[in-house]
Amino acid sequence: MKRERLDKILSHHGFGSRKDVKKLLHSGRVNVNGKICTLPDVSIDLDIDVISIDDEVLKVRKHVYLMMNKCEDVVCSNKDGIHSTVFDLVPEEYKTSSMGGELHCVGRLDIDTEGLLLLTTDGSLTHKLISPKTHIPKTYHVKLQKGLSLREQTKYTEVFQKGMFVPAEGNESEFTALPAQLIWPSEENGSYLTENGPESCEVLITIYEGKYHQVKRMFAACGNQVIKLKRISIGGLYLDSGLALGQCRELTQEELKFLI
Ligand code: URA
Repeated sequence: MKRERLDKILSHHGFGSRKDVKKLLHSGRVNVNGKICTLPDVSIDLDIDVISIDDEVLKVRKHVYLMMNKCEDVVCSNKDGIHSTVFDLVPEEYKTSSMGGELHCVGRLDIDTEGLLLLTTDGSLTHKLISPKTHIPKTYHVKLQKGLSLREQTKYTEVFQKGMFVPAEGNESEFTALPAQLIWPSEENGSYLTENGPESCEVLITIYEGKYHQVKRMFAACGNQVIKLKRISIGGLYLDSGLALGQCRELTQEELKFLI
């Protein structure tokens, strides 16, 4: 039997902060099992009790789903003797939630990678998203050390598109990457134009797997070096541009639909 405070459930379902939820409860718009409920700390049985707001039944989620804009210098693991972890950035209420078990990262980003990171208590979603059998596209914005001429850009695009050989790194074996797409700056997507004109050191890459240091190793295999990496999407889910570095928020119902 999973129990949770009413205010926490409402806050986790997009009804704002605990303060907002308190106001909502005081307004008399929330019913529990058919009776108006104004108390924030009422204990709800997630499997049995029925919550409704303005007579609309709330479809209670059994899990927590968070989007984080990961910053550099934090690691995607539970403990690290030296560095802060992404869990240090997660508000306490999500870590102590009784909704669906332990909060964990869906895959990992390197310590120096920024951008879209999912955290959830939903193990089956994690399994689906990181299974080597499901080739969910993941797109990254990359800055390279060496700028590339248009000719070199075309060459890179072909090599990545063919499915390139990626040499071993440390204990990690070599592998042949699945075909990956590169999008270079152009007249059309001018936002990626750099000061040095057509010689670009910025590119978007979409990969369909998640091997160790994959993006860095792919560019290293071409004799270049990634100096900045930011994940901007996973499947149809895009990083919220309003989310500051190091912040996280719950996924909306619509966003969740892109993943489940
Ligand atoms: N590829 C990398 O090299 N690093 C990441 O963090 C993610 C993908």
